[in-house]
Amino acid sequence: MNTAEDLQSQYDPNHLNKTLADFVLQRREKPDLFAWCEPFYESVEYQYGIGHHMYRRVMLSANSNHVVVEDQKTGKAKEMIMMGSNSYLGINNHPKVKAAAIAAAEKYGAGAGSPPHFSGYYDVHRALEQGLSELKGAEDTCLYPSGYSTNVGVLSCFLGPKDTIIIDKLAHASIIDGALLSGAKITTFRHNDMDSLERVLIQTKKGLGDRLVVVEGVYSMDGDIAPLKAIYDLVKKHDAKLMVDEAHSTGVLGKTGKGSPEYFDLEGKIDIVMGTFSKSLGGVGGFISAKKEVIRYLRFFSRAYFFAASPTPMQVAAQSAALEVLKSEPQWHAQLWENIKYFHAELKKRHFDIERTQTAITPIVIGDTFIMREIAKFMDEQGVFVNPVPYPAVARKKDRLRLSLSAAHTRADLDKVISLLDEAEAKYKFVKREEM
Ligand SMILES: Cc1ncc(COP(=O)(O)O)c(C=O)c1O
Repeated sequence: MNTAEDLQSQYDPNHLNKTLADFVLQRREKPDLFAWCEPFYESVEYQYGIGHHMYRRVMLSANSNHVVVEDQKTGKAKEMIMMGSNSYLGINNHPKVKAAAIAAAEKYGAGAGSPPHFSGYYDVHRALEQGLSELKGAEDTCLYPSGYSTNVGVLSCFLGPKDTIIIDKLAHASIIDGALLSGAKITTFRHNDMDSLERVLIQTKKGLGDRLVVVEGVYSMDGDIAPLKAIYDLVKKHDAKLMVDEAHSTGVLGKTGKGSPEYFDLEGKIDIVMGTFSKSLGGVGGFISAKKEVIRYLRFFSRAYFFAASPTPMQVAAQSAALEVLKSEPQWHAQLWENIKYFHAELKKRHFDIERTQTAITPIVIGDTFIMREIAKFMDEQGVFVNPVPYPAVARKKDRLRLSLSAAHTRADLDKVISLLDEAEAKYKFVKREEM
């Protein structure tokens, strides 16, 4: 059997195992603004050639438990098990959601035509705002074109240079970017570590400005849950404010899938609840739910809201239908959790390193960029779509395959994935021996 070293020796060492981090550094060394793009282009080209670049694969069908994908090598269509979609409930492909989008396209056309303050605010937008306020137990809600712009839009308009934004070490890029744009001081605490958070809250109390703690209901790379009740209590104790990003918890956490406020019995108590439509709700866009005064302020002072065209009526109508499905068809939420429990138990039995995941996001830490890419390629060849995630998207030596579970997966899908992972382990031995 070939060792990883034998395999690596077949490739060009100048391009192998390069990640984005290598090219950020090059940029600083080159005199020409675009010169740094050339070696990056070549490196990606090389990695495509050897099947190590598994990004922007072309989907040719709806993305459900299975998907038809254009093979990167042959250009031919092939059916795969989809383990890389964030549509945790399979709602993106639900007949009622698609029908709502079609009906709205027929009635309102393709686009909203303007930002919301001008002519881009329709009855379907208002209905979705009301539905989301109910979902999150909030007084009011405003919609944004994407989850990314939601975080940037809300953080940059509430805080300024005198203030401090306190974020978890594993905060999503959109939270970091919003915090940077605000000009506020940014302080981090150790991931989900309450002692660390309290230390930061005590240290920052001496300052004059306001403090906003921002956490994620579920963390996007590790799949673990923020201890929101403990965070809420600390934030109250130290007289700060709390924002929770519900991107990966809406539709997943809570008895009825309403998200972390429901899961922790904190409905209506979190100062700012942020969410996205792009995961469980199966669409695109983002929202903030909060007190009515906060939302009105956002509608005028959040530039990502004020200066951006409204989400399309068909997209918004589809999201309202998705909320209705979440309410009236609890079987998807139940099926998702059955799949999570089964799949995680099987992976744990095999001593795979799945970090601290407690939810649909299932990392399989490989720890080596080359082996991770080889396994992703093997899975692709065998008809399973997984997302490889190297440093700098995750910490060094934490390179991983990021798998996402969905209510749409059947037991047969999951068993097939597990047996292929067994084959990959037999070949590459990525399980740390001391854990066995
Ligand atoms: C935690 C978190 N917040 C915000 C976003 C941005 O949301 P969107 O992709 O809907 O723009 C993401 C997306 O991956 C995310 O994981």
